Amino acid sequence: MTKVKKAFFCKNCGYESAKWLGCCPSCGEWNTFVEEIVSKPATSALGINNYNSKAQLINDIDVSHESRLNLNSVEINRILGGGLVCGSMVLVGGEPGIGKSTLSLQIALKCPDIKTLYVSGEESAQQIKIRAARLGSNDAQCYILSETLLETIVIQAKELKPDILVIDSIQTLYTERIDSSAGSISQIRDCAMQLLKFAKETNTPVFVIGHITKDGTIAGPKVLEHIVDVVLQFEGDNSHAYRILRATKNRFGSTAEIGIFEMQNNGLREIENPSEILISQHNDLSFSGVAIAATMDGVRPLFIETQSLVSTAAYGVPQRSTTGIDVRRLNMLLAVLEKRAGFRLATKDVFFNITGGLRISDTAADMAIVSSILSSNFDVSIPTNSCFCAEVGLTGELRPVPHINQRIGEAARLNFKKIFISRYSKLEDKPPANIEVISVAKIEELMKILFGKN
Ligand SMILES: Nc1ncnc2c1ncn2[C@@H]1O[C@H](COP(=O)(O)OP(=O)(O)OP(=O)(O)O)[C@@H](O)[C@H]1O
Ligand SMILES: [Mg+2]
Repeated sequence: MTKVKKAFFCKNCGYESAKWLGCCPSCGEWNTFVEEIVSKPATSALGINNYNSKAQLINDIDVSHESRLNLNSVEINRILGGGLVCGSMVLVGGEPGIGKSTLSLQIALKCPDIKTLYVSGEESAQQIKIRAARLGSNDAQCYILSETLLETIVIQAKELKPDILVIDSIQTLYTERIDSSAGSISQIRDCAMQLLKFAKETNTPVFVIGHITKDGTIAGPKVLEHIVDVVLQFEGDNSHAYRILRATKNRFGSTAEIGIFEMQNNGLREIENPSEILISQHNDLSFSGVAIAATMDGVRPLFIETQSLVSTAAYGVPQRSTTGIDVRRLNMLLAVLEKRAGFRLATKDVFFNITGGLRISDTAADMAIVSSILSSNFDVSIPTNSCFCAEVGLTGELRPVPHINQRIGEAARLNFKKIFISRYSKLEDKPPANIEVISVAKIEELMKILFGKN
């Protein structure tokens, strides 16, 4: 009888150790070691057992056949850097129920001239058919396989020769070469290696869906993210319809691109002009406590509506509540307001919200946040044709932010009449004629311009 070999693996980075360790020597995480059965595969994981590889001169390498598949979706093509590169491996991660399966099935269904093999280890063929009916499938060449054994999947894929292989999800797959259960570190790593080998050998792009852990990183070893060519994160608030697809790693394109989608009854709809949706269209009405921020997500300008409600604190400890930004950022801005604008913090409750369920981290939204708080406090509305973009420093100065020309250009395109920026911003180009650029240096000055207060 052969002896069962066991080892301990770090759940975070995949580090292997013969004995249990409290702290991983590789990634420094605590309490991440789990015991797993290991059996050495007969060949090396990548299957490089034929010693025929030859070094080539870089100029002699033929790239004429390195093609990109057009996925019939402007947003996804753009995020991937201009289409899906043949032979690449794309990992799609996201919260449960965010729409990973919907996204990948939609890709398969929306390209009638691309043959896809959609492998699901989570749902039956009938369940996938129900989803496809909801998405409005037509004459797509999409084959469905409900299977979890990797060897069978590879055989089927080699027989069918699809243009794209979709795996939903890597955590449900298992290979016979390893004894541990599906979803374990060694299974995920080996399955990913075998899929990579398949992708490179047959020049077939592989889409792999991955679950994420409690803290938002892709479950499984870090090597999974190293193996794949592209890592896409699907984010969004489950209670809102908007979803953001973001490339966190891309070997064939920029990681600054994002795509915004709206989850609808018939699938994910691409939103080409997100700012137009995120800003409520009530030009004739203006409310106090609302200010528009000219933020950027990646390289894309994103105009969002910030809303604040300032009221007298009913209890001893004033409440601070935020959605869409870090509460510590709000506290910091409130402290600056107290110091520079005489805002009595101790007696006010402050509630802050970013509409559309988005989360932003761009500090260019600071001036809009501060303006909306002041607007609600004084109960004086800010004209809806104005927008703001500057960072607030601890001394109350308004600091410049990058890509200022792009933000002003987008503001003009969205028919804003005024944009408030930092006086220290360096404008490379002349701003468009239909927008007034107002430069402000300090919070006190902003208060004076907006509300006539000193
Ligand atoms: N009829 C419908 N109308 C609108 N949205 C729907 C409808 N049916 C499903 N959805 C949306 O689709 C989401 C589920 O999508 P999907 O199954 O693709 O998610 P997933 O990320 O693959 O989840 P899991 O991690 O469980 O596999 C739901 O959360 C819901 O928002
Ligand atoms: Mg799913």
